[in-house]
Amino acid sequence: PRPRYILGIDTSCDDTGVGVVELLLGGGVQVRANRVWSQTVHAQYGGVMPELASREHVERIDAVMGDALADAGLRVEDIGAVATTSGPGLMGALLVGLMYGKGLAQALDVPFYAAHHLEGHIYAAASEAELRAPYLALVVSGGHTHLFDVPREGEYVLVGATRDDAAGEAFDKIARLAGLGYPGGPAISEAATRGNPDAVPFKEPLQGQKGFDFSFSGLKTAALLAHKAGATPEDLAAGFERAAVRVLVKTALRAAQAYGRETVVVSGGVAANRALRKAFAASPVRAVFPGKGLNTDNGAMIALAGAAAIQAGRLPSSLTEGAVAYAP
Ligand code: KG4
Ligand code: ZN
Repeated sequence: PRPRYILGIDTSCDDTGVGVVELLLGGGVQVRANRVWSQTVHAQYGGVMPELASREHVERIDAVMGDALADAGLRVEDIGAVATTSGPGLMGALLVGLMYGKGLAQALDVPFYAAHHLEGHIYAAASEAELRAPYLALVVSGGHTHLFDVPREGEYVLVGATRDDAAGEAFDKIARLAGLGYPGGPAISEAATRGNPDAVPFKEPLQGQKGFDFSFSGLKTAALLAHKAGATPEDLAAGFERAAVRVLVKTALRAAQAYGRETVVVSGGVAANRALRKAFAASPVRAVFPGKGLNTDNGAMIALAGAAAIQAGRLPSSLTEGAVAYAP
């Protein structure tokens, strides 16, 4: 029989995420729980320490799963399938979730699905609207700035990517430079509301290119120079955010037109950005964003990817499938 409740696990980086989705009889999906333990030990080092991340996943994953099941009002025996991120990510961190997910699936004797982290980010938007290929997918997070064409369910054609920093990474670095704290995305967004976007000149990167690549290092350099020249954090934030949003939206719209797609799925941590959402809402495409709490890394998005695999009739993964740090 088709499973009703699917458990999703993501431990690819510094968040321990466990979520539960329900496959509804009519064919839809509903998020029943989404618990994330965000590790804070890394803040003192200014970056994620892989070994500390793995250790904390080990210490937390049981409790996070218990909380997720409690939120969903389920017992562990109610779970009908388990989906877990197998890559890309930090090897030790991935292995914690992967071994846990496989062990759980085997103990419960239910199917196991290995999931690609980016496919999870894309399927996070399935919490809001039914995702039906063809569509274009813009994944913008701390580690990725990828633009995919999705001509058919489960088929991803990379049409553009960043040539240097990821979009979220640029938000984080400029926030640190301006003394706005971490994570940089929400801090920049908040400061931008009090700044003048015209005070600091930010040239939009890669203007005039025929392809669909991104670049954020030029914006970073412009921010550094303006900061040294005495620009306020608020003005820096406002100018940078406007330029970054423009570049993301413009490039996605050009690609949507080139590939003849009417729907653009925007996901990953940066998809939480309010200015980005507003700009897409005012654009001619149908933009679909993940629901609240599903933009940044989480387990529910992996459960949603598992649900999509089940709905598409994909076979479960082998329990011998390993973790991959750099998944293509
Ligand atoms: O998807 P995610 O949790 O982790 C990765 O897989 O990388 O994304 C985290 C990134 C961080 O760089 C963070 O600054 C950014 O998403 N972010 C935002 C906002 N909220 C989070 N960037 C812009 N505006 C936001 N509101
Ligand atoms: Zn992510």
